[in-house]
Amino acid sequence: MSIFICPVCGKSLEIREHCYVCPDRHSFDIAAKGYVNLLMSNHMNAKLPGDNKLMVNARADFLNKGYYSHLAKAVAEAAGEYFSGGAVLDAGCGEGYYTEMIRDSLCSSRDFSLGAVDISKFACAKAAARFKGDCRCETAAASVFRLPLADNSVSMLVTMFAPFCREEYIRVLKTGGTLIMAIPAEEHLMSLKAAVYEEPYKNMTADYGIEGFDFLGRRKISREITIDCAEDIRSLFTMTPYYYKTSREGHARVNALERLTTDAAFEVLVYKKN
Ligand SMILES: C[S@@+](CC[C@H](N)C(=O)[O-])C[C@H]1O[C@@H](n2cnc3c(N)ncnc32)[C@H](O)[C@@H]1O
Ligand SMILES: [Zn+2]
Repeated sequence: MSIFICPVCGKSLEIREHCYVCPDRHSFDIAAKGYVNLLMSNHMNAKLPGDNKLMVNARADFLNKGYYSHLAKAVAEAAGEYFSGGAVLDAGCGEGYYTEMIRDSLCSSRDFSLGAVDISKFACAKAAARFKGDCRCETAAASVFRLPLADNSVSMLVTMFAPFCREEYIRVLKTGGTLIMAIPAEEHLMSLKAAVYEEPYKNMTADYGIEGFDFLGRRKISREITIDCAEDIRSLFTMTPYYYKTSREGHARVNALERLTTDAAFEVLVYKKN
């Protein structure tokens, strides 16, 4: 049985060789890349929603080089610490870099299943490749605003730099379930911003309260990283929101950078659904 439910009728899904099927015979193809497409065309605003190929590839190239491994380690540690069995969901998983680390941190636990969801098919393809042959992990193309998961079915939900849908997260999480979220800390990527903007600004990390959740705590994770390679600097820039907000001159300044030393600073926040 799948961790996911049928997006048409809400019933459970059985996993077959090439598709997922519900008792009402709604059927969803498993793409050649290994993810199931549970995105209904009438729920999509764009033909190819979510991060495009350029952004997904840039993020994969950058993350796979380990620049943010300190964050991956901290998130995986938090997941291992708070997990006590059941289903885990990475909502807006991207290309699955952090999802895989989370999976590895749960491996000592006998009872777990892991769902990775992203609206971008390019991201899903990369995430699914990480979990090939691991029947505990499933990847689905779906929206966090309409999660194909039953009410109260998830013990732990992870959201990292992806859109946040409080109502859906409350619906799918069990009471007492854990929400883990990563956000950029104030000084994150300040040197990159200084290279791009006349007046670089700090990130805001003011209020940690989320209605429906008890805030359990936060951990600051910071490391100075030096990127010696122009290609990696461009990958980093392409995976940030600044990429699409920056003037042509700003792009030219980033493209001219050969070396960048900057803070990679995050906060990992942990909540409990009340
Ligand atoms: C900044 S990336 C973060 C990806 C991953 N969590 C990480 O930290 O590497 C944001 C991701 O959210 C996805 N996304 C955007 N809108 C979404 C939605 N409505 N539902 C699910 N995923 C969405 C994008 O496709 C993208 O992969
Ligand atoms: Zn159905």
